[in-house]
Amino acid sequence: MRIAILGAGHVGLTTGACFAHCGHQVTIADIDQDRIQRLRQDEMPFYEAHLDHLLEENRSRLTFTGSYADVADADVCLVAVPSPTGPGGGVDLSFVRAAAAGVAGALRQRTAAEPLLVVNKCTVPVGTGRMVSEIIRRGLEAEGPPAGKIDPPAYTVCSCPEFLREGRAVHDTLYPDRVVIGAESDGESQTLRALYQPIVERSFPAVPGLEGPDRATTVLVTSLPTAELIKYAANTFLAVKLSFINEIAGISAAVGASIQDVADGIGLDRRIGRSFLDAGIGWGGSCLGKDMRALTTTAAEYELPAPLLNAALAVNERQRGVVVRLLQEELRLLKGARITLLGLSFKPGTDDLRDAPSLRIAERLLELGAEVLGYDPVVRSIPVDGARLVASVADGARGADALVLVTEWEEFRGLPWADLARAMRRPLLIDGRNQLRPAELEAAGFRYRSIGR
Ligand code: UDX
Repeated sequence: MRIAILGAGHVGLTTGACFAHCGHQVTIADIDQDRIQRLRQDEMPFYEAHLDHLLEENRSRLTFTGSYADVADADVCLVAVPSPTGPGGGVDLSFVRAAAAGVAGALRQRTAAEPLLVVNKCTVPVGTGRMVSEIIRRGLEAEGPPAGKIDPPAYTVCSCPEFLREGRAVHDTLYPDRVVIGAESDGESQTLRALYQPIVERSFPAVPGLEGPDRATTVLVTSLPTAELIKYAANTFLAVKLSFINEIAGISAAVGASIQDVADGIGLDRRIGRSFLDAGIGWGGSCLGKDMRALTTTAAEYELPAPLLNAALAVNERQRGVVVRLLQEELRLLKGARITLLGLSFKPGTDDLRDAPSLRIAERLLELGAEVLGYDPVVRSIPVDGARLVASVADGARGADALVLVTEWEEFRGLPWADLARAMRRPLLIDGRNQLRPAELEAAGFRYRSIGR
């Protein structure tokens, strides 16, 4: 099939590379000309495991363009532009609107007779599918039918939300748990089933170093607004689950229990499940917080209270402060203390700093008069005035009063702890992700504190 993708961000680029890997012809359009230029020269705009390999391997089936008009003759056009938080917590749909207007413009150049299937991949409030359809219709009406034609070109709009995780984006795209198709007609869902057939059947070539799960992919066909709501409900459920375990972690610490054992104990119940029960400094990233706020805004539009969602947001905000409180308990005075953050990205496997807990923690420590250093295996700058990036864990440990594990990168598990403890002014380690072995750290000379224990 011929696929057009609007937006060369995390979702657009990964989806495009994976569909090209499945044998489809893919054109990716983005308004960021610099990004398109770099992609044409095989330069990655961000770090994502396996993505560079897929782009290189499938280069002959991938076209990059800086103009939405170039997507005119696709069979399917996926909209994967950003939908950031707007003023007041709602979603800023300006990129989605511009993409819809771009589709209207492209449609006027269309030579193919079949209708263009426009598919919303980005996370957008319920009803956005209809809005996109209207913008395209008005765009076409305003210009009149293309020269030599009587009717405006045909198109339909449906939804196919994206559930990929950063750092696991290629895995999640090639081996999704489910494909949700929000369509208003059989024809639309058949086209999307055909698009996803190689993924559902796993008929694409293996990717070196990437293994799929045993479980098969389920295709779920729903109405358009249902698919839009499924995306929000999935992300907010994950966020509520995390805030739940983080709230229990506070109680666990108070009563002297171990939060990891509590998580294992409840996670063994199949109705609950163990995933997303690792207590820590709270969720970050571009999606969970944004989608929580967007859904509470939608609820407010219908005058529906959303106390559970609001509480989950509040718990997450408070959770960043737990590390600071532990530092205060141990060091008493933070003024003049040198504190080194291990890991800055919002989670391992990515260089993404959006809503990263490291930033809020660094800001708070600086406000309290501490000196803040940060080390990360892939992040190359800290966007917090006054915080300083160091080139290695050893540089960060020298003369430090505390190390704080913020992001659980694999390389932090096997550090030469005894050497690091000796290089520090005070060998204190705060494990914000409960990832290290207390006995090992204590044997190396560290005072070790973690969350919920
Ligand atoms: C999330 C959803 O998982 C994905 O389906 C959706 O498409 C986009 O939003 P992502 O933001 O990439 O994906 O990150 P995810 O792996 O879900 O982690 C979110 C945050 O929760 C991270 O900050 C992570 O560190 C934190 N987390 C996750 C925990 O603190 N504990 C856990 O047990 C799991």
